[in-house]
Amino acid sequence: MQQTEATRSVPGIASSAIDAMLKRERDRFLQANPTSAKLAEQAKAHWHNGVPMHWMLDWSTPFPLYAKEARGATLTDVDGHAYDDFCLGDTGSMFGHSPEPVVRAIREQSTRGLTYMLSTEDVPVVGQLLSDMFGLPFWQVATTATDANRFVIRWCRAVTKRPKVLIMSGCYHGAVDDTFLRLDNGKPANRAGLMGQIYDLTQGTVVVEFNDLEALERALKAGDVACILTEPALTNIGMVLPEPGYLDGMAALAKQYGTLLIIDETHTISTGYGGYTRMHNLKPDFFTLGKPVAGGIPCSVFGFTAEMAERMRRAEAEAGPGYSGIGTTLSANALQLHCMRANLSEVMTPANYRHMLDLSERLARGVEAEIRKRNVPWHVSNVGARAEFVCAPTRPKNGAEAKAAMRPQLELAVHLYLLNRGVLIAPFHNMTLLSPATTAAQVDHLVATVGGCLDELKAA
Ligand SMILES: Cc1ncc(COP(=O)(O)O)c(C=O)c1O
Repeated sequence: MQQTEATRSVPGIASSAIDAMLKRERDRFLQANPTSAKLAEQAKAHWHNGVPMHWMLDWSTPFPLYAKEARGATLTDVDGHAYDDFCLGDTGSMFGHSPEPVVRAIREQSTRGLTYMLSTEDVPVVGQLLSDMFGLPFWQVATTATDANRFVIRWCRAVTKRPKVLIMSGCYHGAVDDTFLRLDNGKPANRAGLMGQIYDLTQGTVVVEFNDLEALERALKAGDVACILTEPALTNIGMVLPEPGYLDGMAALAKQYGTLLIIDETHTISTGYGGYTRMHNLKPDFFTLGKPVAGGIPCSVFGFTAEMAERMRRAEAEAGPGYSGIGTTLSANALQLHCMRANLSEVMTPANYRHMLDLSERLARGVEAEIRKRNVPWHVSNVGARAEFVCAPTRPKNGAEAKAAMRPQLELAVHLYLLNRGVLIAPFHNMTLLSPATTAAQVDHLVATVGGCLDELKAA
């Protein structure tokens, strides 16, 4: 029988142990969460599938967990359980829930009007902050990382007059139509589960594997690729780190073939102050960042070089009057700008990053030690303050290898085990995030709980 992703065997752990843990942990969750259960039942009356957004069904819990409040790196649910939160709204709250400077900014702006479609005094200040932090001179604001990526793709097509976008197999850049392709046995195909797509995406998108410069060059040679859109390390299919020289090679090939380079830092902003781009001295033409940039207020930004700004102005002049298709009404509103000002200047600071990176090391080394003690062939990867344990012995080189390493059934069991013991990790693969508010005690609790989980899995 061919093994599906869900039934794939897990080296060192019996599949019966995983099933048994899942059953035990589901029962424990049902017992412990009567208020969540009641609210989940009530919500079915008016919400599609019982939730306001399908993410809430992606968790390991048998029904959605209902949060009551969160502050710093601690979240409390409606049944009164407190969690060490390593999910952090999967990055939207990467710098902690309700950081004080952002709370103050929200309070200040809340009585002055939230959205005017006009600039405010924050605009020049935030432009300067973005430029100082990320090194690109020009910026625009959107509301989600998805939008920032969509808008930048449109700009790239406009300035290069080329049709295609190149993406990495296994990438995720938000709900951007052009990116919903993967390589399937080496051939581009729509991502599994994609709905309502009537266009042949292969007409506008080229897909290659990460860390493969030869494939990249073959794709760029045709001269029809407007831009490469990539994360500097893939973070949405487990974690795939760039091999030495890969990102420099990519930038060189992009330059050689007249293709623009977009670095999506929405997740890799975890790397350190200024994101992966600054830490590794990358030179993208465009840079996108969403989720945590305004401390959890919906907001995203994209930055670009002076050369791009000039080419964008030329493209605008050529397009003439009308509507560019770039922009949404609430983008760059007064609240976003005021919160970004507070977050960039007082929360995303080098000192806070130092704390996050130290804790990430503590978490990675701690989980590694637990894995080693039990002799399971797993490993840990981290990109700064984003750390992930992977149920495979070696680091994947690309999306295909990362996908092959996934063990969804095991992940469900581990996530629920942790959640039932007050540790929340992101519902996708085994992703953890460290914030300025996270404490060493919280990290040690996670490490010890992973150890306990492994003991139970190995004992069965
Ligand atoms: C790298 C990356 N870019 C963009 C996005 C899209 O973010 P949003 O859903 O806030 O638009 C995500 C979401 O996970 C992401 O991981």
